[in-house]
Amino acid sequence: MADHVTVFEVGPRDGLQSLGAQVPTDTKIDLIDALSRAGLKKIEATSFVSPRWVPQMADAAEVMAGITRAEGVSYAALTPNLRGLEAAVAAGCDEVAVFAAASEGFSRANLNCSIEESFGRFAPIMRQAQENGLRVRGYLSTVIACPFDGPTPAETVTRWTERLLELGCYEVSLGDTIGAGQPETVGRLFDALLERVPAEKLAGHFHDTHGQAGALVEVALDHGLRSFDASVGGLGGCPYAPGAPGNIDTRAVLSVIEARGFEHGIDINALQKAERIAAGISA
Ligand code: HMG
Ligand code: MG
Repeated sequence: MADHVTVFEVGPRDGLQSLGAQVPTDTKIDLIDALSRAGLKKIEATSFVSPRWVPQMADAAEVMAGITRAEGVSYAALTPNLRGLEAAVAAGCDEVAVFAAASEGFSRANLNCSIEESFGRFAPIMRQAQENGLRVRGYLSTVIACPFDGPTPAETVTRWTERLLELGCYEVSLGDTIGAGQPETVGRLFDALLERVPAEKLAGHFHDTHGQAGALVEVALDHGLRSFDASVGGLGGCPYAPGAPGNIDTRAVLSVIEARGFEHGIDINALQKAERIAAGISA
């Protein structure tokens, strides 16, 4: 049987978070339900962050309360602090994610603290998540370059990735937040990382600024990664990364997976419904 590749759908969170106009809660719920019906097993539904910082995610609890949960689907949310974790537990999330940056400039812009300080907030999140039986995913942003600090050294990425794993994250999603990666730079990063971290602990999170994201998924597959974040219809961006475009389109990731002979378990026809909702949001 062909190797399975997991697609982690982040459209309802990463795809929507930077949109200026408030997307109706019911539309978000419809989008998540359509993604569940298409067979996505990992759906990042929302984030429990400060509504002052990300107003689009202010209805996180309502979104979680409104979705129709499909069996076998893990509904995830971002939690930057203990308050976010408590809200995610109350809302019935199946897993949560902490998010750090590999550059100080982006950490400050996104979390209002240094990288080390952000880890200080993660420790109690991890403890409480474990007590509540929730798995915790780690994100590491700006792994190739930062919009404030420039190129990120591979050694720095490796060090913070190891720290997230030591903390107890089950995998670390490596964010090319501003889509600065080229196949050569991303290949060199994986060469360095894989000397110290196993490929099964890593996921790829590529933003498609220069149309390179599909090629980067291929490079990552070649390095043994089997988990990729994607956003239905290519919705997306980050409110604290100027110029960050959408995540790679879910359909584009599925095409690369299929072309490489891997299996993904997603019903492409059913995905069209979610794509229509995403197109309606972007219009
Ligand atoms: P702060 O201003 O330093 O903290 O923000 P604070 O404690 O002073 O809180 C500010 C206000 O938010 C207060 O309300 C708090 O009560 C409230 P006020 O008194 O002003 O009315 N607050 C909260 N409300 C709801 N839920 C919470 C919460 N926490 C505080 N959990 C903070 C620090 C971390 C809260 C803030 O910086 C924040 O929320 N940041 C989140 C930014 C964000 O969501 N960015 C996008 C996601 S990351 C991303 O997109 C990258 C990724 O896709 C990977 C990649 O592409 O690289 C993952
Ligand atoms: Mg992102």
